[in-house]
Amino acid sequence: MNLEQFPRHPLTFGPSPLQHLPRLSQHLGGAQVWAKREDVSSGLAYGGNKVRKLEYIVPDILASGADTLVSIGGYQSNHTRQVAAVAAHLGLKARLVQEKWVPWDDPTNDRVGNILLSRMMGADSRLDDAGFDIGIRDSWKDALREVEESGGTPYPIPAGASEHPLGGLGFANWAFEVAEQEEKLGVFFDTIVVCTVTGSTHAGMIAGFAALEDLTGVRRRVIGIDASATLQKTRDQVERIARRTAQLIELDRDLRDDEIQVLEGWAGDLYGIPVASTMNAMAVGAQLEAMITDPVYEGKSLAGLIDLVGSGEIPRDSTVLYAHLGGQPAINAYHALWS
Ligand SMILES: Cc1ncc(COP(=O)(O)O)c(C=O)c1O
Repeated sequence: MNLEQFPRHPLTFGPSPLQHLPRLSQHLGGAQVWAKREDVSSGLAYGGNKVRKLEYIVPDILASGADTLVSIGGYQSNHTRQVAAVAAHLGLKARLVQEKWVPWDDPTNDRVGNILLSRMMGADSRLDDAGFDIGIRDSWKDALREVEESGGTPYPIPAGASEHPLGGLGFANWAFEVAEQEEKLGVFFDTIVVCTVTGSTHAGMIAGFAALEDLTGVRRRVIGIDASATLQKTRDQVERIARRTAQLIELDRDLRDDEIQVLEGWAGDLYGIPVASTMNAMAVGAQLEAMITDPVYEGKSLAGLIDLVGSGEIPRDSTVLYAHLGGQPAINAYHALWS
């Protein structure tokens, strides 16, 4: 295993904080639940999981001589907001393609929350009518070409930074950060629950925890909760990026099937649209722990955790780590859910 060979440009305050959630644990009547808070670990525009991925991509951006980061997401993309933040932080420009990934027709959807923040940070954020797809899009390729044609030097960052060759490294490193924190706190997380859509957060964790298992001989479960509602695409992407990242960090074995678990059941029918379990999970997190989750991502993975602990699928004697990946700015566009 060799993660240290990759340069990391710090964009966070340090290790993201671990938080025990005693009232949620008691409410579920089973496993002890903790959260690792990517949402409060950076000063860059409210942070989130992409900041950690971008820490490993920034050295390549700087080496490339690019002047414009070009990326893509939905209107309320957390990812593009974090790309805009990193661009501002580095003194670069950002050109963002914001597609209509969610049929959420609130008139504020393309004006508040993430997109508002991106515009405040100076990003050139342009709307596009195309619907949800985690793959490589023509609109993104067009944006790259346009930057070039207007004399700029673009740096391509695909949706969620997932298809970027280095996209899995941030969360491979997360696994080692968890292990260090465990040692300090005297706790061991046998189960990790993480939201997965474009895949490289979960995939990076899979590669990182596999490497850790090979060093320590200790196995744990990393459970991805699908929030894409296009399950097969997310599964394929997680598997591919996990293998690519494992190779990159020189894991000297293939990943086992049991190491790649993307569970369905909490995404609902459509990406970005909450269902009853999402609403319940958001309320439970907020009312028991003041832990705010969003209806697109974290509310769905928290719903998965709640059901898996409640059903005993995650055993009562488990200690579970919920990866809180951010996403709160989007709730502004979803105000109607609580009005
Ligand atoms: C808040 C939040 N949670 C979870 C995810 C899913 O992460 P990934 O796209 O790496 O699967 C994202 C981004 O897509 C996100 O912004």
